[in-house]
Amino acid sequence: MKIKTIGVIGSGLMGSGIAQVAASSGLDVLLLDVDQARLQKGLASISESLDRLLKKEKITSVQRSETLKRIQLTTQISDFSKADFVIEAATENVPVKLDLFKKCDEVCPKEAILVSNTSSISITRIAAATRRPEKVAGMHFMNPVPLMKLVEGIRGLRTSNETFALVRELAQKMGKTFIEAKDSPAFVVNRILVPMLNEAVFALQEGLASVEDIDTAMKLGCNFPMGPFELLDYVGLDTAQAILEVMFHDTGDSKYRACPLLKKYVEAGYTGRKSGRGFYDYTSQSAK
Ligand SMILES: NC(=O)c1ccc[n+]([C@@H]2O[C@H](COP(=O)([O-])OP(=O)(O)OC[C@H]3O[C@@H](n4cnc5c(N)ncnc54)[C@H](O)[C@@H]3O)[C@@H](O)[C@H]2O)c1
Repeated sequence: MKIKTIGVIGSGLMGSGIAQVAASSGLDVLLLDVDQARLQKGLASISESLDRLLKKEKITSVQRSETLKRIQLTTQISDFSKADFVIEAATENVPVKLDLFKKCDEVCPKEAILVSNTSSISITRIAAATRRPEKVAGMHFMNPVPLMKLVEGIRGLRTSNETFALVRELAQKMGKTFIEAKDSPAFVVNRILVPMLNEAVFALQEGLASVEDIDTAMKLGCNFPMGPFELLDYVGLDTAQAILEVMFHDTGDSKYRACPLLKKYVEAGYTGRKSGRGFYDYTSQSAK
């Protein structure tokens, strides 16, 4: 099967990055979101990312404009009737994803592969919302997609070998290193990373140290490139909370309960860089 046109669902942090890398690899991209405002925001972030790559001489100006030309924006899922492969990167919410997979199954060509970039939700469960579970898999990109090398491939219980081979092939075409993870809550990277980030919030809640000192401790004490709060602000506190809730719900293990302080920040609308405020304040650039 030749993959030519990719449908990407969600033009947020991940979807815009996935669309950019897919278009840079020569694929035609249909980028879907719920309204034009979000699509334009996604396109602006792709444009800025390409500008940075151009400035660093990683791409030429011709490559920049060709990449942008390959991305078509849409609010109509029916446009996915032209897609050979769909990568879903919508909000981390079970009903949202189940509904999107059901709709994709209805509108996409019957041979199209449907994958989810979910950080934690069961691929087997998502696949069961379609009539083609053998053509559904997980394809978990890392943030920021244009820079991070890894893709975790997740095989649902009914994913076929042929589908999984195509997922691996696409990841490699997009310049990524592929690892295979079992369909278990949060897979490999987030299974280890997200409880550590949550633990940092518990440490803050208990008054162990300040945001800045915990970040400094983990950067200088563990050689982490970013502190846990810098990373939480980058990932999105709402996304981290959603991942923890799936881990907690699916395993029943209380060690995965989201820290109350994390939930409070999300309730306050402090979801991180994307809202201008998380554990740090990006409106004034001063730390909180
Ligand atoms: N943030 C990260 O670091 C990260 C890393 C890897 C994977 N993920 C996963 O990627 C997915 C997206 O996360 P994100 O950080 O990009 O979130 P985000 O909030 O930045 O973007 C989500 C986008 O999905 C759109 N959306 C929601 N419902 C939709 C629908 N029905 N149709 C079309 N678009 C819809 C929203 O409007 C929004 O633009 C989640 O499943 C998340 O778990 C996130």
